[in-house]
Amino acid sequence: MTKKFVSISEAMKKGSGKVSVRGWVARERGSNEFKFLVLRDSSNVIQCVLKREKFKKQWAEIDKIQIETSVEIYGTIHEEKRAPTGFEIQTDKITIVGLSSNFPINKDLNEELLGDRRHLWLRSRKMTSIMKIRDTVLDSMREHWHKKGFYEYHSPILLGMQAEGGSTLFKVDYFGKPLYLSQTWQLHAEAGIFALEKIFTIQPSFRAEKSKTSRHLTEYWHAEMEAAWENLDYLQNDAEELIKHVVSRVLRERKPELELIGRDPRKLEATLKKKFPRITYDDALKLLKEKKKTVVSWGKDLRTIEEDKLSEMFDTPIMVRYYPKIVKAFYMKEAPDSKKGKEVVMGFDMIAPEGYGELVGGSQREESIEKLKANLKAQGEDPSKYEFYFDTRRYGSVPHGGYGMGVERVISWICGLETIKDAIAFPRTMTRWSP
Ligand code: 4AD
Repeated sequence: MTKKFVSISEAMKKGSGKVSVRGWVARERGSNEFKFLVLRDSSNVIQCVLKREKFKKQWAEIDKIQIETSVEIYGTIHEEKRAPTGFEIQTDKITIVGLSSNFPINKDLNEELLGDRRHLWLRSRKMTSIMKIRDTVLDSMREHWHKKGFYEYHSPILLGMQAEGGSTLFKVDYFGKPLYLSQTWQLHAEAGIFALEKIFTIQPSFRAEKSKTSRHLTEYWHAEMEAAWENLDYLQNDAEELIKHVVSRVLRERKPELELIGRDPRKLEATLKKKFPRITYDDALKLLKEKKKTVVSWGKDLRTIEEDKLSEMFDTPIMVRYYPKIVKAFYMKEAPDSKKGKEVVMGFDMIAPEGYGELVGGSQREESIEKLKANLKAQGEDPSKYEFYFDTRRYGSVPHGGYGMGVERVISWICGLETIKDAIAFPRTMTRWSP
């Protein structure tokens, strides 16, 4: 008897002969003569047949098998066109590893109840497929930056200052002192480039977003890069290369998972083939007015609704740059050729197609300490908290910049999800913090 367990997909590749597999019962039905189990492991599902006459002594125990019972099965695999995945195992031996109570997940549960039972819902084929795609997305991000000579570098999560505006800060009681959960690695990353020059991270960021949308999490994974000596074009090029690399690996390695969750892979092909359109904020206002009859007055940020209208005009992500300085973060470099009173920054956003919103935000960084201080003051911040940051400009400052990409935003778009919550195992939003 072969004791070595193989995955269900390896067993199916073998296609004939004796195999040992193990997993959880996804479905079961039976008659007096037979029991049909659909067995699930992380790789796939397979039908297993048990003949009563072979298991006379064990039948009472086998009758207790319910959905999610864990079992080890030994038997002969063969092709069976009528079985769910085209193969079947004629079972010679079964060991019940863990019995299951009535599994509290069924297809009639609403989103709230599935959220309460998230720890169990993760076992669904939908969630399993999305989590595999997530693994490929993260691996391909690391691969992209490592290939270009970037180092992985980490910044603290507990911080004494904000970087992305005070309204989305989570306060933490740190031994009686107020600290905040990090919104971005950026300020501490800017210190790191003076040692490592090109760095990236993939780590959680926190935003106290009061919006209940399909795009906002309060805790999300943030893929960020920072590079010394580089300008806005370099950042935009890198963000485009990164997205293309991620999408190309998902299309190459995760077609079955995309199919399983009902995502048409053809929707992603334009992203690989075409260069992403690059426009300015002013161009965006013009396009919105001419093609969508939507007027945005100069100096206002683009809201979700306007980003969605822009994204409808293209089938790839697009990049918008040179936003008005007043709507962007204090650290973005003011464009030297800005018109007085209409200052713009050397920053960009990448907006996903199909209405999936902003995937990336980035910029060249302001080097002037005076300007940084003035920007902070204009936002009601106390510049004295940022002395360590100003030091990066005092000792051999160089042109530099970086960007941040919302990992769940990317997954949500690639998978065509209805809500960003399904892009992460245990989502955190304003109304959901358990399990
Ligand atoms: O545009 P943001 O705020 O940029 C920064 O944090 C910069 N400091 C990044 C940098 O230059 N290193 O956020 C970057 C990206 C957004 O484009 C979006 O994809 C994602 O982070 N993001 C969120 N994702 C999910 N839920 C939220 N509440 C998010 N807020 C931002």
